[in-house]
Amino acid sequence: MITLLIIIIIYMKIDIVTLFPKIFNEFLNKGLLSKAIEKQIISINLVNVRVFAKDNRVDDRPFGGGVGMVIKPEPLYEAIKSTGVKRKNASYKYCYNKPYVIYMTPQGSLLNNNIILDLTKFKHLVIVCGHYEGIDERVLNYIDKEISIGDYVLSGGEIPAMALVDATVRMLPGVLNPKSIINDSFFCNLLDFPNYTRPAVFRGYTVPKVLLSGNHKEIQKWRDKQAYIKTKTRRPDLLLQK
Ligand code: ADE
Repeated sequence: MITLLIIIIIYMKIDIVTLFPKIFNEFLNKGLLSKAIEKQIISINLVNVRVFAKDNRVDDRPFGGGVGMVIKPEPLYEAIKSTGVKRKNASYKYCYNKPYVIYMTPQGSLLNNNIILDLTKFKHLVIVCGHYEGIDERVLNYIDKEISIGDYVLSGGEIPAMALVDATVRMLPGVLNPKSIINDSFFCNLLDFPNYTRPAVFRGYTVPKVLLSGNHKEIQKWRDKQAYIKTKTRRPDLLLQK
């Protein structure tokens, strides 16, 4: 008897550079992330910027005055460098098998499904979280992409980094059932169709009859139509995207 053993090795390394590594404990030890780590689909390493501060200072007042503090360039640069990032000259170009350095900032490109799909191609992501008034601008020379999770300001980049990691990891092969990714909102530029579960009647509210029919072709037709109607009424801009 021939046993065919197919081993899929998808390995993405993720370094998170932060002043507050403890914030990530629960996030990494529960649910989807911990399963992906257990299955060795990803490995996540928290890099504490404070370890790289020679004089114990990670922030300082902004040149030119103003409110708030700015993260100093030296400890942040050393923390990024410790992940294996090398920049030899200004003409450095990233590619999928080199570390890709992302800075979470409200000034970055607005995160969407296409950016997430692109990130899944990298073998090594380095995610830098800012805090206070942000980071010294000169560190941007070591950043490949700035990403924002929305037009609002959070007190730090840790929550945006979690959003980015979660959205990226769930797209990696072997993490979720591929069917649930295909049915997700934003796949094919459509929002998700409505979902129902037992009981069939909840406080007088019923479930669309077709879902109880057992006719899978009709169910799929209904779901496609509902996804389209929802997208057209709530996010018509998605239907115009390529
Ligand atoms: N840091 C603070 N606010 C942010 C946002 N909206 N997106 C990404 N990083 C941030």
